[in-house]
Amino acid sequence: MKKVQQHYDSVADVYDDRYDRDRGRYYHEHIRNHVMRGLSEGAFLLDVGCGTGLFVRQYMAGGGRAVGLDISPKMVQNARKHCAAGEFLVGTADMLPFRGETFDALASLLAFSYLPDPGAMLREAFRVLKPGGRIAICTLSRTVFTNAVPIIYALGERVGLQRVGVGNFNERYYTGREIADLLTDAGFVDVSVWRCSFAHRNLVEPLFTLARRLEPFVEKRIPYLAYNVCASGRKPEG
Ligand SMILES: C[S@@+](CC[C@H](N)C(=O)[O-])C[C@H]1O[C@@H](n2cnc3c(N)ncnc32)[C@H](O)[C@@H]1O
Repeated sequence: MKKVQQHYDSVADVYDDRYDRDRGRYYHEHIRNHVMRGLSEGAFLLDVGCGTGLFVRQYMAGGGRAVGLDISPKMVQNARKHCAAGEFLVGTADMLPFRGETFDALASLLAFSYLPDPGAMLREAFRVLKPGGRIAICTLSRTVFTNAVPIIYALGERVGLQRVGVGNFNERYYTGREIADLLTDAGFVDVSVWRCSFAHRNLVEPLFTLARRLEPFVEKRIPYLAYNVCASGRKPEG
């Protein structure tokens, strides 16, 4: 986890160039909108692995209150700068520094793949949610396209490439079934999984524009080709 933290500290100042500009902004906003589908709006949210606060900012714009937690102090520092209305703290996903039954909603975007013990994060998520509270996660899924990504990123580290997310972090990409099982094992009910994103920000033009046009069709008809998997669930009431 130290290596992930150091990596995100080192890329914190360029993170928003990747995900809050041009193709990256479209890609990230698309994911945020999918995650919103799994949550209650206008409530009290915890965003685990919040990065620079892009989702906290969007959630609060919809009338909710939100806290972001991230392992990287530099990402948290930038989140505080970019989203002054949000509350942000440094911490790790598997030991959430909150009392039980604090939040109405819990989100995690593009961070789940880094967790060495995803079950521990989900048990903590279950603990800090109020009864009836909802969880929604989005992370890279295991597909024909993403299978090679960890190898490419590890090679990138070897040749000294300094890019957001590039490195050998023992990342794990999940199938929908695996995430659904993890949520169910942690105690969540009404678990659903779906795929999203075909227009990945790494695609160059004109592929990106083409993928953007095809995205609704891919998500609906051939979801296996979508890059990310989303999952949502609910903590049962009593
Ligand atoms: C790709 S970024 C995603 C950030 C943000 N959720 C977003 O969508 O823009 C991954 C984030 O997960 C954070 N992270 C990785 N492992 C973590 C852990 N164990 N606990 C908390 N945050 C973690 C990283 O520091 C980084 O900010």
